[in-house]
Amino acid sequence: MKPVPNALPSTLPQGAPPVRHYLQFADFNADEYHYLFTRAALIKKKFKTFTKHQTLEDRTLAMIFEKASTRTRVSFEAGMYQLGGSVVHLTTGDSQLGRAEPIEDSAKVISRMTDIVMIRTFEQTKIERFAANSRVPVINGLTNEFHPCQILADLFTLLEHRGTDASGNLNPDYLQGKTVTWVGDGNNMANTWLQAAATLGFHLRVSTPSGYEVDEKVAVTPRGMGAGSYKTYSNPVEACTNADLVTTDVWTSMGYEAENEARRKAFAAWCVDSNMMAAAKPDALFMHCLPAHRGEEVQADVIDGPQSVVWDEAENRMHVQKALMEYLLLGRQA
Ligand code: CP
Ligand code: NVA
Repeated sequence: MKPVPNALPSTLPQGAPPVRHYLQFADFNADEYHYLFTRAALIKKKFKTFTKHQTLEDRTLAMIFEKASTRTRVSFEAGMYQLGGSVVHLTTGDSQLGRAEPIEDSAKVISRMTDIVMIRTFEQTKIERFAANSRVPVINGLTNEFHPCQILADLFTLLEHRGTDASGNLNPDYLQGKTVTWVGDGNNMANTWLQAAATLGFHLRVSTPSGYEVDEKVAVTPRGMGAGSYKTYSNPVEACTNADLVTTDVWTSMGYEAENEARRKAFAAWCVDSNMMAAAKPDALFMHCLPAHRGEEVQADVIDGPQSVVWDEAENRMHVQKALMEYLLLGRQA
């Protein structure tokens, strides 16, 4: 029988290139990010002008959520449909994942029926175990340790607002030497920013309360800090001084709810306010991956103020993830 074009073979062909996964920011190099930013800009432009871009027709994305989500679900689901594909949505509660089917077995089965998988889960080791048993690309939609799709969107948003050339094209070299300040918890977002600074060569400052620092053993990349740098500050206002971007996140991430009260006390001085924004460059931007708690990690006048680009940041999740899925499945497109 003639093989059906583009159908998944029952066994991987001999000599097939290894499947690429996106489990952490350090999985791609600067050149790949430059391609993805440029491709996402094209894909976004087509979306905005109602021009079809259906490069993943007949492909299926499996989305597995072991934690809640609004943006990640909507952006991946809408994005895959726009690319001409379809989506299967699974949660721990409505699948055998919640009834202790081994993750390795789940990966083997799900990756025989779908073309690409996005997972939001707890430990990074879980997504690594899934990927090790998957025949198709696996994307990290947030783990306790990393949130690479979010930083991909954040950097694209920074370039859109501040890093374009005279013809409006993105200039990824803009990032060289720029300063990003992280205020708050040394969490999955902070770890990912550290990897991004190392990969793309910008300066990262991190200010956290004592006891909530970034675990450099988790975040460190095999290539060290590259052309980028990483510095910690106990004073968040000092960390924001002359920054190009100030960014923060919730004080209590999903999975850490039991620590909520202790965290509210410890983080009281790490609320991004107009003082911190005034210390940054006059044209500095503010970002937050959302969901946000006004009056906790950020004051309302900052997140709802003129320097905030949080709505563009949220929307851009969809555009960059479309470029990402296309890249993992088809490689570079001319
Ligand atoms: N920023 C983000 O990942 O949002 P969700 O938790 O709503 O997916
Ligand atoms: N650090 C947060 C990000 C939510 C998108 C969390 O892990 O809950």
